[in-house]
Amino acid sequence: MIETHHIKIEARRSLARVLPRVEQTFKRSIAKDPQVWNQFTARLSVNFPALLELYADVYSDRYDFFYHLEDLITSMARAWFARPQDLRELDNAREQNPQWFQSNQMLGGVCYVDLFANNLDGIRKKIPYFKELGLTYIHLMPLFKAPEGENDGGYAVSSYREVHPPLGTMKQLASLARDFREAGISLVVDLVFNHTSDEHIWAERAKAGDEEYMDFYRIFPDRDLPSRYEQNLREIFPEEHTGAFSPFIINGKEHWVWTTFHSYQWDLNYANPAVFNRMAEEMLFLANQGVEVLRLDAVAFIWKQLGTNCENLPQAHTLIKAFNAVARIASPALIFKSEAIVHPDDVVKYISFEECQVSYNPLLMALLWNSLATRKVKLLSQALTNRFKLPQGTAWVNYVRVHDDIGWTFSDEDAAILGVNGGDHRRFLNEFYRGRFPGSFARGLPFQENPLTGDCRISGTCASLAGLEKALHEEGEKEVELAIRRILLIHSIIITVGGIPLIYLGDEIGTLNDYTYRNDPVHERDSRWVHRPRTEWKKYEKRKNLHSLEGHIFNGFRTVIELRKTHEVFAGGELEIIPTDNEHVLGFTRTHGGKRAVIFANFSETPQTISSRVIEQYSITSLKRLHGRNHVSPKNSLQLEPLDFVVFG
Ligand code: GLC
Ligand code: GLC
Repeated sequence: MIETHHIKIEARRSLARVLPRVEQTFKRSIAKDPQVWNQFTARLSVNFPALLELYADVYSDRYDFFYHLEDLITSMARAWFARPQDLRELDNAREQNPQWFQSNQMLGGVCYVDLFANNLDGIRKKIPYFKELGLTYIHLMPLFKAPEGENDGGYAVSSYREVHPPLGTMKQLASLARDFREAGISLVVDLVFNHTSDEHIWAERAKAGDEEYMDFYRIFPDRDLPSRYEQNLREIFPEEHTGAFSPFIINGKEHWVWTTFHSYQWDLNYANPAVFNRMAEEMLFLANQGVEVLRLDAVAFIWKQLGTNCENLPQAHTLIKAFNAVARIASPALIFKSEAIVHPDDVVKYISFEECQVSYNPLLMALLWNSLATRKVKLLSQALTNRFKLPQGTAWVNYVRVHDDIGWTFSDEDAAILGVNGGDHRRFLNEFYRGRFPGSFARGLPFQENPLTGDCRISGTCASLAGLEKALHEEGEKEVELAIRRILLIHSIIITVGGIPLIYLGDEIGTLNDYTYRNDPVHERDSRWVHRPRTEWKKYEKRKNLHSLEGHIFNGFRTVIELRKTHEVFAGGELEIIPTDNEHVLGFTRTHGGKRAVIFANFSETPQTISSRVIEQYSITSLKRLHGRNHVSPKNSLQLEPLDFVVFG
């Protein structure tokens, strides 16, 4: 209490010191539009204490602290004056209804602009398709100016204010955001804020030896500190470069720059408040184009400290919360999605209304694939029991596949409780999904295999990993049917489990691996491109023919999406696991608005039974079957078909 009080007084003093100078800067705009300024100062006074505390936590030791603070407030005010009126209205609407993304109408999709529809105009023309599928949230993969050739699928950004020229212009993006909004779709893009490309103007200046910009990155004159840091660091892309640093030349002399990912992706130095301020400007710029959700890329890595593994450090959280406070002041409609593909204990730490309102759920993703491989649900049930509940006002983004590899980021401690050895089990999963384990249905590829540690992750499309590729090439109709059921089973779970379902577009028509990336010198060394094919619209056309493979899968998606959208019980994230007494069957209930749904998912290829005890306990006989092929048998036990997904409500 005393502390909060103290901070409030401190904040009032700081604001009193800085605000008059900001006011001076915007004298003309204020005279022209006093109401807009009043809106700004109203939100500023509410959120400034939080922002100051966070900002001071990281930067108060600096002699020029107040200079940077004033600079930040100036940037926020400038962005607010520039914010289009329709977005200011959206701000009000979202403040009235901060839970908007918990609705059962929410459904996400993600795609690459060029691979899906050539360019932004092509994406605009796909709006009718997005509506047909039921999407209300579309993540367009990084579309910013990036180096020609290798650019990590756009995750090496050369300018946050320019669209990569072949894709279109920033003006087009802003107008697309508006068209989306009219169609009930929120635009999601990345804020790649851990690093820039080495062609970003900041990096160019650093390379030219400009000290102000050298301080934007973590640059070292020799290998001394880098080697000391590296003693504790994980290697993220070991196939590309070992360690976390890359050499480059300034004025004829070798230097080392921190590069967690590729050597052309330079990590920013957030110990420098100017970096925070400039990135806050880029963030508000994107918000003002109509972006409603920012996917914060690689959140775990933004703070570094010698002697630690430089992942998930407390300052990373402080900085993200500070960005969030900036958004509450100058673009309140904006929310954050965290991309932390790390230990589940660390994943949840990014999720709160004050930090990231929504987050990828990499644990559910990994354990759905685990359950398909093992045909058992114990790890999945355990994780959903203990790790699914989130703080009020936040939500999971549940997915099966995205553009990245699958990492087996379950907790070794959780696994040990169930008698599973984490390391051995990961090795099994890698073998299974590479199709090397006897009886495996999967056709995946290894990603970033590390010969030193034996680590590896898995690439592949949903359909190829779920058995469709193998079944089509080597096996018969029965196997094809099973593969389709696997695809639908795991998607049905993410669509009903609670939170925002996210579909990697292409999966809804069963897109297979595309091995042609191996002929492309830019991509051949990155197996993730096997699951990033160019969209074949001819195949999409077949979605309306139920006798086609595409139609069969698409119809399965649509049926469960319809189920979600017509039953409010699928809103929110309330979930309870049912002990099904059957190791192959996941059971859970969803409750919302006084309603309840009961769901069973059979992960085995043989029929399974749910005992009468469970049926009675959950009063299933008195419920209506909302979805699924089964029937309750006279003896009151429940028969599930192979890979069945059943809903009662
Ligand atoms: C994120 C992206 C991944 C990229 C990395 C570096 O993890 O999802 O595709 O390689 O960040 O930006
Ligand atoms: C992400 C993850 C890392 C992942 C990579 C992309 O930021 O943290 O584990 O493998 O980027 O593949």
